[in-house]
Amino acid sequence: MTRFEPAGDAFLAASHAVSRRDSAAERGEAMPDYITIYPANADLIFLPYLKDYQPSKNDFKAIVEDRRTDRRYDTNDHLSLQQLSWFLWSTQGVTSYSIHRGITTRNVPSAGSRHPFETYLLINRVADLKAGLYHYVPQEHAIYLVNDSQEMIHAINASTFDQKQVITASVNFIWVAEVYRTSWRYQERAYRYLFIDAGHVCQNLYLAAESEGNAVCAIGAYKDDEANQALGLDGHEKFVIYMASVGKPLSD
Ligand SMILES: Cc1cc2nc3c(=O)[nH]c(=O)nc-3n(C[C@H](O)[C@H](O)[C@H](O)COP(=O)(O)O)c2cc1C
Repeated sequence: MTRFEPAGDAFLAASHAVSRRDSAAERGEAMPDYITIYPANADLIFLPYLKDYQPSKNDFKAIVEDRRTDRRYDTNDHLSLQQLSWFLWSTQGVTSYSIHRGITTRNVPSAGSRHPFETYLLINRVADLKAGLYHYVPQEHAIYLVNDSQEMIHAINASTFDQKQVITASVNFIWVAEVYRTSWRYQERAYRYLFIDAGHVCQNLYLAAESEGNAVCAIGAYKDDEANQALGLDGHEKFVIYMASVGKPLSD
């Protein structure tokens, strides 16, 4: 009896670090997009400026120690735009960029600073926003509505095996990986980096939420094909890599 999964073992073997000589970057292939591409006619909603903002809880040690997963949310509570702004800034906010190197730096680390994620928000209750699927544009610190159909909302929830917190959360974060942003430089090794990068992003969401009296539930149990289909992704070059619900926890 072996105590490893052959499919997982094959993934490890197939993603061993290799020489980068054959990477698309080394071959001189055009750099992939490193900022978010969005429709020219998108109605951008610019998020509140955070320069003078302080989260309601500022004790870093307490934030780290108090963070817990919570799946039961107060459905009377609405997240403010300021809180949403803070959560997006903490998870994917752009702090600098280099057009020459084709990279951004953000509030989370990323292998080679490739930052291969797009952030989608399934919003249920955020003040002044209608419910629906939104897309974050980090370089503008803005979001725009992609789709507010009930079918799409149901399809995303169904893809998570109908996990109830997706419906009761104020907002769900859905992170989509764009593989080539990282594989352009790291080939097959990129696939490991994607999942490691995603962990950093979700941890920052946990901490930012805790600092505003909200709680997160990371969601890794979802049907890939259904989630990708709901968002119109091909499942190869672009796919859902991780989700997380956020809401004000119900007091016990
Ligand atoms: C990668 C990952 C995937 C997870 N997927 C789910 C999930 O699909 N549904 C869920 O209810 N909780 C999920 N969780 C939450 C864990 O169950 C939770 O983190 C764990 O019980 C430890 O609790 P704590 O976060 O409060 O320390 C996930 C957590 C991680 C890190």
